[in-house]
Amino acid sequence: MEAARQLLSARGPIGLPGLLGLLVLFVGAYVFYECFFSPIARVPGPFIAKVTSLYYPYLSRRGHVHRDLVELHKKYGNVVRIGPNTISVGEPMAFREIYKAGNKFYKSQSYSVLQGTRPFDLAGQRNEKIHSEQRKLVARSYSMDSVVYLEPHVDTVINALVTRLKGFYGEPIDLGYWMQLFAFDVIGAISFSRPFGYVEVGEDNGLFLRLQRALRSLGWVKHAPRLYRWHQTLMPIIGNWLASNDRNTYFFEFATKEVQARTDRDGDYKDIVSQLLSVQKAKPELNDTNIAFMMTTNVFAGSDTTSTTLRAIVYLLLKHPGKYRRLMDELESKRRKGELSLPITFKQAESCPYLQAVLYEAMRLYPAAGDILDRDVPPGGMTIDGHYVPAGTVVGTSAWVIHRTPEIWGTDAEEFCPERWLDEKNESNFKRFFFAFGGGSRTCIGRNITWLEISKLVPTLVMHFNMRLADKAELTEDCGTLVFLSGLQVHISPRELDQKVLS
Ligand code: HEM
Repeated sequence: MEAARQLLSARGPIGLPGLLGLLVLFVGAYVFYECFFSPIARVPGPFIAKVTSLYYPYLSRRGHVHRDLVELHKKYGNVVRIGPNTISVGEPMAFREIYKAGNKFYKSQSYSVLQGTRPFDLAGQRNEKIHSEQRKLVARSYSMDSVVYLEPHVDTVINALVTRLKGFYGEPIDLGYWMQLFAFDVIGAISFSRPFGYVEVGEDNGLFLRLQRALRSLGWVKHAPRLYRWHQTLMPIIGNWLASNDRNTYFFEFATKEVQARTDRDGDYKDIVSQLLSVQKAKPELNDTNIAFMMTTNVFAGSDTTSTTLRAIVYLLLKHPGKYRRLMDELESKRRKGELSLPITFKQAESCPYLQAVLYEAMRLYPAAGDILDRDVPPGGMTIDGHYVPAGTVVGTSAWVIHRTPEIWGTDAEEFCPERWLDEKNESNFKRFFFAFGGGSRTCIGRNITWLEISKLVPTLVMHFNMRLADKAELTEDCGTLVFLSGLQVHISPRELDQKVLS
């Protein structure tokens, strides 16, 4: 104690001014190193990002990081340094290299926050070997064959939604909210054969806000893993300050109860839990707890993503009456030929090229995942846009950035133009850069489920109702892990349909 007092005292060997001087020298040397000598010093980006790893969590916490990233790339080019050791990549070739299947760009440290202490978490798992073993256990249940088998569940929820919407002719309604209720009920129906019943009551009992808060908090704390670990260690003393922890408590308990409620384990349920329980017979490592973790992921990863996508599709169609009309013409011409039922089947939807183009284009402009999907550069490093980037650097791309890169999409990259997907020459190239569902071995396992939902619901709504945006209705965006959209106020009225034509 005495030695420390002497050291700090103005007359001590160093004294307080001396200590402050040392601190300034140390900080100065650090800043100098990061700006001029770090291996990625020449990668352009805001000064503050070069010197502190808190810059990106700060951006994420503000709620519009998806748009901020686009602006940063407009300002600095295809490669932007967003942290002392982190680069946001918009360069098409480097993007392909990072997310190519079978490469060695593994998920970065931020995913350990996503995973927390969950032993079975496909999205958060950083160990590729464990991930691949776990994914194999569940992959079949999410394959296209299995998903089409879930179609009757989606029909039930679509019918419930259409019935409810018929009660709202006249006043504008928040159609986005209704589609969110729909997306949740579908997850309940396909996972547990039990829609949560939200569409029926028109209410979510505060669940949506709770989920949004959890994802919002995850959005920034994911990029501050050290802070997260301190918080978790100190939690018994300071209590829980992070809404992201809900993921392992409230929502997990909810999923566990649903799995345990399935007492009739050999029953003929056409749902994901039942499929996973049959896998369990041969592979006991897929135990009930792991199934519950997987179902928590269904709710977390599969409901808000789909509802954001639905909001974007309907909004873009209503904002572009010419495109809306073209979609209607395609559907009407099929209907006249007796080739459409209501709800529209997945197979029928697949045979509507313009509908498919609309879905791709809306997901291009409004991909639900707004954050960068960060990966560690493997041994050997990589070169991006002429910059050598050493192993261990964190690199990542946000779909919002790569989906707006003019080198890929052309000068009209910001415009809603479904027609671009009908151009056979370019379509396969566009699909190589379509990143809404991620890429490589970590692509979204639920994409077939989403495609089933959106390709059935959108045309069914278009056929049932005339829809018009309410005066001054505009979408507002809020990003935290996912992009949340709100404000889709719509007037709906009935369309004349010849019921004889519709089987
Ligand atoms: C519009 C809808 C959806 C979008 C935009 C979307 C987006 C994504 C993205 C971008 C990833 C990659 C994340 C990364 O690399 O860090 C992903 C992974 C994942 N998604 Fe989705 N998703 C959607 C729907 C769903 C649904 C419906 C489910 C489940 C029912 C689901 C479950 C998962 C899972 C489990 C993963 C982790 C896969 C793995 O790493 O093996 N998603 N999703």
